[in-house]
Amino acid sequence: MATIAGGTGAPHARIMGVGAYRPTRLVPNSEVVDAIDSSDEWIQQRSGIKTRRWAGPEESVQMMSVEASRIAIERAGLDVGQIDCVVVATVSHLLQTPAVATAVAHELGTDGAAAFDISAACSGFCHGIALASDIVRAGSARHVLVVGVERLTDILDLTDRGTAFIFADGAGAAVVGPSDTPGIGPVVWGSDGEQFDLIRQREDWRDVVGTDTQPGSGVMPHLTMQGNPVFRWASFAMAKIGQQALDSAGVSLDELDVFVPHQANMRIIDAMARSMKLPASVKIARDVADQGNSSAASVPLALDRMMAEGEAKSGDTALLIAFGAGLSYAAQVVTVP
Ligand code: COA
Repeated sequence: MATIAGGTGAPHARIMGVGAYRPTRLVPNSEVVDAIDSSDEWIQQRSGIKTRRWAGPEESVQMMSVEASRIAIERAGLDVGQIDCVVVATVSHLLQTPAVATAVAHELGTDGAAAFDISAACSGFCHGIALASDIVRAGSARHVLVVGVERLTDILDLTDRGTAFIFADGAGAAVVGPSDTPGIGPVVWGSDGEQFDLIRQREDWRDVVGTDTQPGSGVMPHLTMQGNPVFRWASFAMAKIGQQALDSAGVSLDELDVFVPHQANMRIIDAMARSMKLPASVKIARDVADQGNSSAASVPLALDRMMAEGEAKSGDTALLIAFGAGLSYAAQVVTVP
């Protein structure tokens, strides 16, 4: 039997640069309330959302990914040719195959980087960071570009009271590369498929198109959500996952500088912070108020904003946690680049 050579990766991995793309159109609550018989006051009180970013026709999943990635690569101090793997987390690239990651890698001008998409809904970006860290340490690639991107407005039913005011569009990207010291802690991740139906595409594409025996609905399969059980799950179960990620990284609450939870709903963010007993010194991402919930893009968008506004500084210790459809979740401690 032949001896197969093992990979030779970096001792550790770190985030080297972060970039973001926000659609130019800012949509206030006043523009969504009529179709769902709601009010600005109700939306702000229940979700903390005042405005959201919705993409225009030119702001495709690919376009937003490329824009965010260019910034992340530049901030990482790399040439695009040094990116040898591209991972795109999304659930709203409506061409089922091939992966949008290959088009992103090509448009960026990588030298034929490995490229694939992952589907983990709102937790996709944190799954991507975990994969990238392992890829770099295993030696399968040296610099991995991770993109979280959504154009959820394509799958939103603007008359659905439970989703129309929450979801949004955008892209965030991070470059993960080698490091002499640990810059990405162990991931704590998991799923609860018993709650598969809580957030889901309403029906599958065969139900839309039809089969030989069954006519199709011909209606776009929108996103549906049972908000209340999701709210309860996220508010209580996710704080424990955040604490586990801190414990796995050997980081105490006093050593934490920045908390970047998935930007689902301001009440969930507040409930998690309370439940985790975060010290007042910890800066908390609250991007959801102006951006809405942009699913896989929400964590990198929120982190990028905190860095731009000086709330998160290079070398700070940050806890990332994301959760959503599946149900699925992933959390890790990282060093801010
Ligand atoms: N506008 C105004 N009223 C609304 C409404 C809307 N868009 N949607 C529901 N209501 C009403 C309901 O009819 C109900 O009225 P009633 O008390 O007279 O029967 C009341 O508000 C409460 O409805 P409920 O569905 O229990 O609301 P809620 O407190 O659970 O809030 C969400 C709804 C969606 C804001 C909340 O469940 C939530 O944020 N869930 C988590 C969503 C999330 O973050 N998902 C992303 C995870 S990736």
